[in-house]
This record gives sequence, C-alpha cells and structure tokens, in this order.
Amino acid sequence: IPVDEFDLVVFGATGDLAHRKIFPGLYRRYVAEQIPPSAQIIGAARTKQDDTAFRDEARKAIREFAGPSDDLSHLEEFLNHLRYVPIDARGTDGWTELKALIRPDVVNAFYFSVAPALFGDIAHRLSEYGIANANSRIVVEKPFGRDLATARELNATLAQHFTENQIYRIDHYLGKETVQNLMAVRFANMLFEPLWNAQYVDHVQITVAETVGVGGRGEYYDHSGAIRDMVQNHMMQLLCLIAMEPPYHFDPNAVRDEKLKVIRALEPLSPGDIVRGQYRDGPDGSDYLKDVENPDSRTESYVALKVNIANWRWTGTPFYLRTGKKLRARTSEIVVTFKAPPHSIFDETDGPRSNQLVIKLQPNEGMDLTVMIKEPGPGGMRLVQVPLDMSFADALGANGTDMPDAYERLIMDVIRGNQTLFMRGDEVEAAWAWTDPIIAEWEAGSKRPEPYDAGSSGPEEALRLLHRDNRRWREIR
Ligand code: BG6
Repeated sequence: IPVDEFDLVVFGATGDLAHRKIFPGLYRRYVAEQIPPSAQIIGAARTKQDDTAFRDEARKAIREFAGPSDDLSHLEEFLNHLRYVPIDARGTDGWTELKALIRPDVVNAFYFSVAPALFGDIAHRLSEYGIANANSRIVVEKPFGRDLATARELNATLAQHFTENQIYRIDHYLGKETVQNLMAVRFANMLFEPLWNAQYVDHVQITVAETVGVGGRGEYYDHSGAIRDMVQNHMMQLLCLIAMEPPYHFDPNAVRDEKLKVIRALEPLSPGDIVRGQYRDGPDGSDYLKDVENPDSRTESYVALKVNIANWRWTGTPFYLRTGKKLRARTSEIVVTFKAPPHSIFDETDGPRSNQLVIKLQPNEGMDLTVMIKEPGPGGMRLVQVPLDMSFADALGANGTDMPDAYERLIMDVIRGNQTLFMRGDEVEAAWAWTDPIIAEWEAGSKRPEPYDAGSSGPEEALRLLHRDNRRWREIR
C-alpha cells in the first residue's frame, strides 16, 4: 500500500549512511510500490552538484549496497524521484532553493543524517526560512548526545523549533523485524506472559555479538566505547521490550511509557557488575589498540553487565547483557531461562532441567524452546532435553527470508507519522542517566579493559560474572 504523497529531504545525502542504508532502503520500498508517484527525495549536502550527478551517485550506492535478491530493473524510474540541493547548514546557501522545492500540502520530512553538532543549525534554518511547518517531521540519528547533559541540550535545541511528536529519534534496532517480534511473542500469545516474571524466570541473557572490529570508525569509536555505542541505545531497547509491562495498546506513547518505566526502575550498577574488554591479536592482525591508533586507550570494545530491575515483576531475576566486537560469531539473541520445577518426581539424579526460550534476532531469526521429554527406549524413565526449534524463514517461507531492512521500515513509519518505533526524548535521557555514572566511574579510574582474543567469546572475567551466580552464558555460535 503506498504511503501518502511526501517530500523527504536527506541532509548529509552524500554520506555513508545515506549511501548504505537510506537510498537502498527507499529503493526497496519503491520496488514494493510503496512510494507514491510524485514523491520527491531531495538530497542536501555541501557538495556542489546537480540532480544528474546526484542521481549517478545514488545509482552507484544502490547498486553497491543492494542485497542479492534485490530487483534492480526499476532503478532508473526510481532515480527520477531524486533531486539535489547544495546547502550550507551554517550559512545561507541553498535554503531558498530548498524551500522552492518543498510542497507544503504534502507530508514533509527532514532526515538529519549529519553530525549532531549540525542538528541545531539545520533545525534553526528550517524554521527561519519557513521550510518546515507544524506538520513537518524531523529524523535524527544516534549518537543522541554522549551523556545526559548533551542529550538534554540536544532535546532542548530541537524543542525550540519542533514539538515532540514531530521528532523521530532513530534506534535502528527497533526497526528490525525480529525485534518487533519480541512484542508479538510476548503480547499475542497466552503461553509466555503468565510465566514472564521473577517467580518463574531464573535469569535473562541478552547478547549482541559482532565479528567486525571498529573498522574505519576508530576515531568515533574510541571516544564512545561499547557502553555508549551499543548499551545506552540498542541493548537498552532490547531490555525494555523484554522486561516492560504490557502497554494498553500498540500505540506510540503507550509503548514508550512502558519502556521508560523499565529504564527508571534499573538499579544503579556497581563496578563489580561490569566487565570491560578490548580485543587483541586477531589472526587477521586486528588489535583494538592498533585499530584505533591509540596504544593507551582504555575504551572498551566489549562489555558485560549484570542488571537488576527493581520493580514488582523482576526483583530477584538478573538480566545479563553482553556486547562486543571481534567475537567468535555474529549473533544477537535473548535467552530466557526459566526456573527448574520445584520438585522432581523422577528418581534419576539428573532430574528435569530448566526450560530455555531462545529468541534469535540475527542472523537466522527464530525461536527455540528447550523442553524435557522421556528418552525413547526401554531404559526406564530417563529424561532428555530437546529443542522445539523454529526458524522464521522455514515457517514463513519466502516471507521469512525477505525481511525489510530496519531503515526501510523506519523511514516509511516517519512518512506514515507513526512514532511507536522511535525513542522519545525522555527515554533517551533516562537511558543516559543510568549509563552516565558507570562511564564516569570508569573514566575517573585507571583500570584497563580485560584483553580478549579476537575471534573468542570475550574476556574470561565475563564468564566469572555468571559463574559466581552459578550460571553460565549460552555459547556464542
Ligand atoms: C551501530 C553501532 O549503531 O550498530 C555499530 O554504532 C554496530 O558499532 C551496529 O556495529 C550494529 O548494528 P547491526 O544492525 O549490524 O546489528
């Protein structure tokens, strides 16, 4: 179903995110016939070039970053929707031209795919030149600040020109199909929700493991580290979706209110509940300190945390979070380990073990529930644990493999005016309020992250974080 007619301006249109994600994503939506006939996608950046040169650039980017199953036969028609305006975010060039292109009577959205330092300038120019109106939407990317103070400042700057329901803060994890599925699994099934609390759940593990290192982003990354880059946003969102109360409706503020309550209920972390690591000596020569060209760096490329949520539902059930670069495999999953049955009626010493629900977010999206059954055969009542394993791709056929990329989904939600999958200002601030003390405590000290071998499962110390509670991480594979 096509969305309403729209004009979408992409500031930073010559940048990496636009090339990798925004244009290929829009193209895919075009092929899916969601882009209406007179929609305009207007690139804006400092580079002085015309529409033709910009279309050439977009063609190249889409060809390079399209997936293997993408049909490129509509590319030329799609490129006709593209326009370009050279613009100076801090000056006067280009703004009048941009205003002339925007149709005030259709949905208009402005994607700030630029450094956060420019957010204020662009927001200001959009109002000064009368380009944005009360129905316009703006889209902003992470990092949304680097601590509570800077996030507050950014929120205040944007609020001078836009109301909260015009601001779409992207966390691309919320656009992932399987992340949204967490809500479907929890709230559209009777099976899980009654057991979803500290009485029945022993603990929860959330893992986002990557095989890539910091790549060409060393400078950015070394000033951020895994807590700012992954925990404050993506991991926090996963934690919220797993832990939140049922919202009264699948409605933007109802969902975001419940997520906010989880963040506010997080107990402050103590240093003993955090393990930081840095990758070393990869077979491919990768080494964090070399990759960021900073031999003294104390920035973590891996972090593991034990988190407690102090509320009625979760007190007593720890949530263990870990994320890192250069790990053994690329895998994101959530493991909910239920408590063992209170009493075993079977004689064998190795009685029933806990059920585990594994929600696999990427790759190979699916769910796996382990259950105890009787081992077949005449050997008496022996128990064995087996998986009820479901791959979404197998269960859903082609629909299961052809999942839209997070950006495609999120950009279309902006045009539709649906903020459910975007972070509200207070959520972002609450997340920083929780991570700030952890970061400040570390930065004030002199301890170094634990080294771990590139290609391993992370530092030994992280294993101990669970061992001391008589638990163990699910293997990264
Ligand atoms: C980004 C981080 O937000 O998310 C990157 O800045 C990280 O460091 C990426 O690699 C992970 O996203 P995905 O979609 O590949 O899991």
